[in-house]
Amino acid sequence: MPTEESFLNRVLTMEVGRCTEAAAIAASTMIGRGDKEGADQAAVTALREAFNKLEMDGTVVIGEGERDEAPMLYIGEKVGTGKGPKIDIALDPLEGTTLTAKAMSNALAVVAMAQGGTLLHSPDVYMDKIACGPGYPDGVIDLDAPLEDNIAALAREKGVPPSEITLCILDRERHQGLIDAARKMDARVFLIPDGDVAGVFHTTEAATGIDMYVGQGGAPEGVLAAAALRCVGGQMQSRLVFRNDDERARAERAGITDLARKYDLRDMASGDVIFAATGVTNGTMLDGVKWEPGYVHTHTVVMRSKTGTMRYIRARSKR
Ligand code: FBP
Repeated sequence: MPTEESFLNRVLTMEVGRCTEAAAIAASTMIGRGDKEGADQAAVTALREAFNKLEMDGTVVIGEGERDEAPMLYIGEKVGTGKGPKIDIALDPLEGTTLTAKAMSNALAVVAMAQGGTLLHSPDVYMDKIACGPGYPDGVIDLDAPLEDNIAALAREKGVPPSEITLCILDRERHQGLIDAARKMDARVFLIPDGDVAGVFHTTEAATGIDMYVGQGGAPEGVLAAAALRCVGGQMQSRLVFRNDDERARAERAGITDLARKYDLRDMASGDVIFAATGVTNGTMLDGVKWEPGYVHTHTVVMRSKTGTMRYIRARSKR
């Protein structure tokens, strides 16, 4: 039987990317059809089928929801053949269901895998997040500092005025205060309609021009983004946000006792982690799925924290 380490290696090179490819291909059949639930369902079904071919004792720790509300890939569901090492899986078969339904950019199929017990078992609630790319001293950004201080600190370390700092923020009313504060400092704001896994990841790629991600989005997406940053470098802090007792109860069921805890990258993804994403629609980071008679083309990134390897895979599969 392979050790967890050798299994993760094998998965890194072949299997995780195949799983996100399958989810993205299935979701791509629903691009522009105005049916976000249908698009999500197509991706979920394909991802689950792909997982169940893998020789692993996988447990979904970040999934489609709790057992009573999600029939497939729910939190706690066992996936894989049941043989082999224990693997924690965080997934979002379709990150950007609305983006897909409306044929807008940056929809992804996303999976992170790690040794059992090393990913934050986050409930499906909101999370406050702040992130920046690699190359800055530790602690340059702080979730609890005013945004103005974070912009000033990043600008200082980058050696530019605040007007040369670009923030990525989800375009939501709840973020108006952040947007106003950034603009008051003359910083640029890159507003995204959805998809903050890609939003956080953008901070790691100079080509995007984005220096910092800030705002409130889904907590599961936060853990997936943290897994990606663990592989490629960068900083991130977060805190879960609870709007009612039901959400607090979800956290307790997930084993979280300190509901006000501030997490950093390693609190969210502490072990050796593999992250894979396949583009569904065209994006800044990955091309979307393209169909031609008899074939389908996909673009996938697979990364591993332990080695820092990042592989971009372009595949053409027969259909
Ligand atoms: P989908 O549910 O359409 O896939 O949207 C995903 C997403 O945009 C995440 O990237 C983000 O974290 C979250 O939704 C934001 O939630 P809300 O739309 O409630 O502000």
